[in-house]
Amino acid sequence: MLIPPQRHLFDIPDDVAYLNCAYMSPLMRPVVEAGRAGIGRKARPWTIVRDDFFTESDRARALFAQLINGHADCVAVIPAASYGIAVAAANVPVARGQEIVVLAEQFPSNVYAWRELAAERGARIVTVDEDNAPLSERVLEHIGPRTAVAALPHCRWTDGALLDLESIGARCREVGAALVLDVTQSAGALPLDVARVQPDFLVAACYKWLLGPYSLGFMHVAPRWHEGRALEHSWIARAGSEDFSGLVDYRDDFQPGAQRFDMGERASFHLMPMAVTALAQLLDWGVENIAQTLAERTRDVATRCAALGLTALPESGRPGHYLGLRFPGAVPAGLLEALARRQVYLSMRGNVLRVTPHLFNTDGDVARLLEALASAMR
Ligand SMILES: Cc1ncc(COP(=O)(O)O)c(C=O)c1O
Repeated sequence: MLIPPQRHLFDIPDDVAYLNCAYMSPLMRPVVEAGRAGIGRKARPWTIVRDDFFTESDRARALFAQLINGHADCVAVIPAASYGIAVAAANVPVARGQEIVVLAEQFPSNVYAWRELAAERGARIVTVDEDNAPLSERVLEHIGPRTAVAALPHCRWTDGALLDLESIGARCREVGAALVLDVTQSAGALPLDVARVQPDFLVAACYKWLLGPYSLGFMHVAPRWHEGRALEHSWIARAGSEDFSGLVDYRDDFQPGAQRFDMGERASFHLMPMAVTALAQLLDWGVENIAQTLAERTRDVATRCAALGLTALPESGRPGHYLGLRFPGAVPAGLLEALARRQVYLSMRGNVLRVTPHLFNTDGDVARLLEALASAMR
């Protein structure tokens, strides 16, 4: 089902064409309101009660789990994708001579931790690029008996190149490798079923396609890692933390499921209600419907940009929400600045122009984008 434009929910002036969700989503008005209400409560701390440390985080876990067909029990609260990747790197076994598979030009938050781990353990980073075959096929070719970890996205942040995570998950299980996913550039806009993919760890920052705040994210941890090592030891992650007066009766056991991996101060009284409001709206729209609607939008943009000589990955090789455009020759100098002067906002990664719309976009935005691009390329 296609969803009509939802511009009215966002604070975006009519003359701004913002097609840059891959950089950062704008916030919906009710999300802003939820954040303001949270700050208001912190201004009056007598309104914050014990349950507030638990209930909103638990709601967020349940909503995020629903979005990816996972279990609330498996969801931990994290401040950033890099934090979740650090948890994964602290837990997956990697031995001398083994390999960690990443993509060429993968987002650094899912690379540096693996480089450090590989150096510590005498393992090797294997970097996969297309080399004239679809990226997903190349990844499958590189996962083998030596692979300890495949650390991947669902689609690449530069150009949207899509990976077939179900096949990759199956291959990882076949060879005994751990699968660690950073789905920050897809969760909320591209359907993903963790019951089918079976990642060991999956992380997503909230501030892009989850339409949520900065400095918050979620991590789905498969049950086999629930006894694993946390990065920090917050009071609230320990069993019995609901009993504030008993907190100095230190305990070695944890809250159930993935909660042991929660970041300190996870019950952020302004950020968590924002995330909850945004996740509830995404679920109300339905990720499948969002994906279809954004696919229509980027298909239209791709077709019209082809007339300007710009090329994109075939639809089978990219998700509907993510369009990476390549220029026939050199990228025009000062392109982004020229677009911004016309209030058209996109981003470049490498030599790829990213067009990443959401439901806040209208046909008018696309018309402005095309005019501004044509003018910049003249
Ligand atoms: C694929 C991907 N992962 C993660 C992030 C954000 O990383 P972090 O939450 O570690 O700042 C981005 C931001 O552009 C991204 O594109």
